Amino acid sequence: MSKQSISTKPVKGMRDVFPADMRIRNWLFQHWRTVAKSFGFEEYDSAIVESEALYIRKAGDDITKELYTFEDKGGRKIALRPEMTPTLARMIMAKGGSLPLPARWFSIPQCFRYERMQKGRKREHFQWNMDIIGLSSVAAEVELMAAQYTFLKNVGFVVEGEKTEIGFKVSNRQIIETFLDSLGITGETFAEVCIVMDKRDKIGEAATIEQLSQRGLNSEQANAILNLLNIRGMDELRETVGEDNPGYRSLVELISLAEAMGIASVIEVDLSVIRGLSYYTGTVWELYDTSGSVPRAIAGGGRYDRLMESLGGKPTPMVGFGFGDVVITLLLQEKKKLPTNQTLVDDVIYPIQKEQFAIANRLAAQLRGQNRTVLVEYSERRFKHVIKLAEKVGAKRMLIIGESEAAKGVVRCKTIGGNQEEQPLSDFGL
Ligand code: HAM
Repeated sequence: MSKQSISTKPVKGMRDVFPADMRIRNWLFQHWRTVAKSFGFEEYDSAIVESEALYIRKAGDDITKELYTFEDKGGRKIALRPEMTPTLARMIMAKGGSLPLPARWFSIPQCFRYERMQKGRKREHFQWNMDIIGLSSVAAEVELMAAQYTFLKNVGFVVEGEKTEIGFKVSNRQIIETFLDSLGITGETFAEVCIVMDKRDKIGEAATIEQLSQRGLNSEQANAILNLLNIRGMDELRETVGEDNPGYRSLVELISLAEAMGIASVIEVDLSVIRGLSYYTGTVWELYDTSGSVPRAIAGGGRYDRLMESLGGKPTPMVGFGFGDVVITLLLQEKKKLPTNQTLVDDVIYPIQKEQFAIANRLAAQLRGQNRTVLVEYSERRFKHVIKLAEKVGAKRMLIIGESEAAKGVVRCKTIGGNQEEQPLSDFGL
């Protein structure tokens, strides 16, 4: 066989997950699952490959340009999913009218986007999704925000009082839609203009005006849009768009429900939150780190009441969020909130020579039957190496069997950092 030298690095933008990282990932997913279930959400999943057609959108948001695509052997145009939302809509459509609504579903899919690499952005990430299908009240948005809030609180972020570590920026696309409508900007141009508005912070005012003019807007319209993006807070908003604006009214209701839910401390109204996905129709929101150490959004969500229809399904109100694993793990690490020293095994069994392997295995089987996690150390190494290993895996106990123990029918039990005592093997059911 010819030899070749393979790079040890994963493909650019992808991550290897070594056991220490996997422990953290499992811990994070466990928190996500626990919170979602505590709100009565059911888990679903799908394959990571989808039909490319599912992501073709007229307004052309970035996600559709970052697709990993290929043709399968049957000539089908396939994409690695960049997000879960279109898959969710497809699955709901597949159920026809048989699914009782409202439905509350969550998932933790792996998503792929050929993005420019930067802090907090990879070409592959896992994304906690929670979506409510069939509820048009903003009570749904508030419930989803409460779930995000609960997760953040559970992992130790400060989310109360003045010094909240995570903020929720909330806006509403209907405000923008009504406002743009009054400027004569409607239909497909509206979705395209939203995508340009979303980039304002990245590209600056001059480039925003230029891109708006490429979409047929005059300078008066462009300036009115830039003014709208600078609005912060409800008073300024009411003065600019008027209190009859349906998006404004919906935000008022959202804030009042958020107060009742006890999560209003993290929520602020910020019209510069547009979101880069063209399917949103109502509330949009993003979570950010108030210290600014990771500039990318921690999570993002919104209402997308017309997506099902645009895919050929029945009009169905839908709202949800995606919460990636990359930024939150970076933040948890920076703020020293990641778990340390997790126990991996309860017992380390140490047969001193291979003659005691069989009895060690029988003892291990017995203990595993009692739901204990057990590692048998077969290396025949000296005691000091084995004790180091036991400490590393957080074992509570070592069970040592040498020639003399086996002859006597006992095992030497040593609690980590404590005493040793002999115990008959019969105590363990052997
Ligand atoms: P999104 O804003 O594109 O929304 O992504 C949601 C979250 O996924 C981001 O805030 C971030 O945490 C994470 N994320 C996205 N791209 C990357 C990347 N390249 N590297 C690391 N993390 C990333 C959506 O995907 C919507 N489908 C969410 C949604 C669900 N809306 C309604 N339901």
